[in-house]
Amino acid sequence: MLEKKKGLTMNLQNIIEKIPKAELHLHIEGTFEPELMFEIARRNNIVTRFKSVEELRKAYDFHNLQSFLDIYYEGANVLIYEKDFYDLTFAYLLKCREDNVVHTEIFFDPQTHTHRGISFKVMFNGIFAALKDAEKEWGITSQMIMCFLRHLSEEDAMKTLKEALPYKNNILAVGLDSSEVGHPPSKFERVFKEAIKEGFLTVAHAGEEGPPEYVWEALDLLKVKRIDHGVRCIEDEKLMRRIISEKIPLTVCPLSNIKLCVFKKMEDHNLQKLLQQGVIVTINSDDPAYFGGYANQNYIKTVEALNLNVGDVVQIAKNSFQASFMSDELKKSWMKKCDHFLGTSKENSK
Ligand code: HPA
Ligand code: ZN
Repeated sequence: MLEKKKGLTMNLQNIIEKIPKAELHLHIEGTFEPELMFEIARRNNIVTRFKSVEELRKAYDFHNLQSFLDIYYEGANVLIYEKDFYDLTFAYLLKCREDNVVHTEIFFDPQTHTHRGISFKVMFNGIFAALKDAEKEWGITSQMIMCFLRHLSEEDAMKTLKEALPYKNNILAVGLDSSEVGHPPSKFERVFKEAIKEGFLTVAHAGEEGPPEYVWEALDLLKVKRIDHGVRCIEDEKLMRRIISEKIPLTVCPLSNIKLCVFKKMEDHNLQKLLQQGVIVTINSDDPAYFGGYANQNYIKTVEALNLNVGDVVQIAKNSFQASFMSDELKKSWMKKCDHFLGTSKENSK
């Protein structure tokens, strides 16, 4: 149970904790808690440059995306066996259960592992088995989204796409992550075209550190159904009109944005402005082990700093289902369940 935070009524905190939600922007490698990392390193006889959990946590002090990515890739180096990927994924799903995340569409980065000599099969099987077990045990549904690392070449991404084809029935979409600036979506136009031909849906990180032009490219060239982050859309009025009229959701990650200095402090975050203008905004945790909180903590910190009310929380939770890749029927049913929380509120504001 999360302790009551200053400025949030128990009622609002309770609603955040209990309302069902989908998480649509989550890198499974970014859920690697230091305790589990040390445990896996120990059993795999890997010596890390950090002596303790505390020392590792201290290194989580980032000034931009790249300073985070360097540590994030380093951490993933201890993942060797199927069981390692299983344990990583299962630990995240336990957090979903705690936070009432009933559906998750997770990113995984094959190149982070295949470049170290870990086979696609080992990585995929470990993650997939954990997702299936959580569905069986707790009814948490999920999808997998394979991301290409944009700092690597398009040729490398194409090779990865080919490696993924035997698994394509269980990978719903492809995405684009890693260092954004200097690696525009246009660099991956051909590989996304090929992925679409093979039946994958597409999403892409854009407008986190990169300019609105990258969002235009993701929409026009990569044909994405959602924009991951996308907070810089607000700098371009024409782009805002487009994402609103075409109902392109943004998977916003508030704690990530603060940790990576996209905004100086949560009070400066533009999530409320996006929401008020009619953008389908969702709240997600991105890399929760590194950024200080899972789904509910992201909701709580945002609601508190931006003074959001019950109506906003219900809207954001509903948006998470609307923006998901679930069937329309399931979307409707979850959104209806979210609406019940409007009725449970004694007050209609904070
Ligand atoms: N942005 C880009 N690449 C990433 C991120 C992110 O927030 N997290 C993990 N890889
Ligand atoms: Zn991300």
